[in-house]
Amino acid sequence: MSVRSAAEGDLNGILEVERLSFPIRNQWDVGDFREALKDLFLVFADGGISGFLIASCWEDTKRAVILRIAVHPGHRNRGIATRLIEAAIGTFREMGLREVEIDVEVVKRGAIRLYENVGFRTIRGIPMDENNTMSNENGSFYMMKMEINKP
Ligand SMILES: CC(C)(COP(=O)(O)OP(=O)(O)OC[C@H]1O[C@@H](n2cnc3c(N)ncnc32)[C@H](O)[C@@H]1OP(=O)(O)O)[C@@H](O)C(=O)NCCC(=O)NCCS
Repeated sequence: MSVRSAAEGDLNGILEVERLSFPIRNQWDVGDFREALKDLFLVFADGGISGFLIASCWEDTKRAVILRIAVHPGHRNRGIATRLIEAAIGTFREMGLREVEIDVEVVKRGAIRLYENVGFRTIRGIPMDENNTMSNENGSFYMMKMEINKP
C-alpha cells in the first residue's frame, strides 16, 4: 500500500473513485484527469486505486492549491486522505513552497475536520449567493490555508 504519482494506466480506477465521491454535475471527466497528469497528481494504490489527490503548484509565488481529493467509499476513515495530503505537503516542502490552499464547501464537515487535523486553518468564508449568507445549500465554501517552510 503506498502513495505514488498517478499514471495514464490509473485513470479508470481514478474515474471510479470520482464517480463514487462527487455528484454527477461536479464530476471531472477523463480529459480533465489526463490534463491533471501534468500537475502534482498522487494516488493511493493497494491493488486498485483507493484514492487520489491533485494539486497545482506555482514555484514563482511559492504557492500550491489542492484542487481535488477523494477516497473510495469502501476505504474511508482509515487515514488514506491524510496520507495523500501529507505526501503532497512533503513534495511542496521539497519544492520550497510556502503556502498551500484548499477550498471546501461548508457542507463537508468531515473534510473540514480532516484538513484542520493536518494543519489547515480557515482564512475566510466565501458566500455563494447575493445575500452573502454562508449556507449549506448554496455551495458556499471556506478557503483554508497552511503555511509550510516558514523562514
Ligand atoms: C473527504 C475524504 C477525502 C476523506 O477521506 P478519508 O480517507 O476517509 O480521510 P481520513 O481517513 O484521512 O480522515 C477521515 C477521518 O478518519 C480518521 N482516521 C484517520 N486515520 C484513521 C485510522 N487509522 N483509523 C480510523 N480512523 C482514522 C480521521 O481522524 C478522520 O476522522 P475525523 O474526521 O472524525 O477526525 C473522503 O471522505 C471523500 O472522498 N469524500 C468525498 C469527496 C470529497 O468530499 N472530497 C473533498 C472535497 S473538499
